[in-house]
Amino acid sequence: MSARILNGNAIRDRIYVELAGEIASLASAGVRPGLAAVRVGDDPASKLYVNSKIAACEKLGLASFHITPPASTTTDELLTIVNELNDRDDVDGILVQMPLPKQIDSKKILDAVVPAKDVDGFHPVNVGNLVANRPALVACTPAGVMEILRRSNIPMEGANAVVIGRSDIVGKPMALLLLHANATVTICHSKSKDLPGIARRADIIVAAIGKAAMVTPDFVRPGATVIDVGQIVVKDAKQAERIFAKFPEKLQAFRNKGSVLAGDVHPEVVEVAGAYTPVPGGVGPLTIAMLMSNTVKAARMRRGLRAPAAAPARG
Ligand code: GUN
Repeated sequence: MSARILNGNAIRDRIYVELAGEIASLASAGVRPGLAAVRVGDDPASKLYVNSKIAACEKLGLASFHITPPASTTTDELLTIVNELNDRDDVDGILVQMPLPKQIDSKKILDAVVPAKDVDGFHPVNVGNLVANRPALVACTPAGVMEILRRSNIPMEGANAVVIGRSDIVGKPMALLLLHANATVTICHSKSKDLPGIARRADIIVAAIGKAAMVTPDFVRPGATVIDVGQIVVKDAKQAERIFAKFPEKLQAFRNKGSVLAGDVHPEVVEVAGAYTPVPGGVGPLTIAMLMSNTVKAARMRRGLRAPAAAPARG
C-alpha cells in the first residue's frame, strides 16, 4: 500500500486564500502590511530565496522592501540598516537572510531586530514566548509543518512524535509546537543511540537533519506520518542512483540536469508510511506561506488588532 501524499502546494494555496481575505480586511482599515527583506552580498541561493519571498508579497498585495547591501558590509553598518527598519512605520516584518558573510556577527544582528517585527521568529524574546506557549512570532518552517498536520487531520494529541534534528530554526521550535499540541515528543540528533529504534516508536516523524535520504524505511512504523523538512541538491551520480533506484523519472531528471533534489527521508519510505510530505512540494511551499502569515500577524499585533477565527481542518 502506498502512503497518502500531504500536498504542501495545495495547503499553501488554501492559506493564501485565507490570507487574501485578511489582507483585504486590513486594507479596508487603511493598513497594508509590509515586509523588509535584507540580503547581504550575492549568494545565489540567498538571492533565489529572497526573490521568492518578495514575489509572494507581490502576489498577495503586501508591500515589500528589498534591501541589498554589499558582501563587504560590517556588523555596525548592518545594525544601522536594521535599526532604521525597526523605526519605520510602513515595515511590519523584517527578515535578514541567513547565512551572513563571515565578518558579520549574526547573533548581534538577529538580536537587533525588534521582536514585534521578527517574522522569522529567531529573536530570543519570540523563542522564549514560544517556550512559555504565549503569543509569539514562530519560526516559519516548523509553523508550516503544524499547518500541514492540522489541516490534514493528523492526530497530534497523545501521539508519539519524534523530531530528528535539534537546530534553533527547525528542530527545537518544532518539538515545542508538537508539545503544545499535546504530543509526546522525543528530540533525536547525531549523538542519539539507536535512532531507527526510537523513530520506529513514532506516530509522527519530523526529519530535519539536512542529510539526503537518511530516514530509511526501517525507521518507520507502518502507517506512521513522515514529514520531510530536508531539501538537499544531490550532484553525485552514485548517490542519486542509490537513493532513487526505484524512481526512474528522478534518475532521468538527474541525467538531464546533473542534479536532483532529495529530502532527509528516503523515497522508499512511501511503501511503509501512512502519510508523507514529498520533496519538492511538501514542507517547502509552507515556509514562505508562513512568512507571509507572520507578516500579516505582525501588522495586526503591532496595531492591537484581533486575529480572525482559525480555519477549520480539512481532509
Ligand atoms: N536561511 C535559510 N533559511 C532561512 C530562514 O528561514 N530565514 C532566514 N532569514 N534565512 C534563512
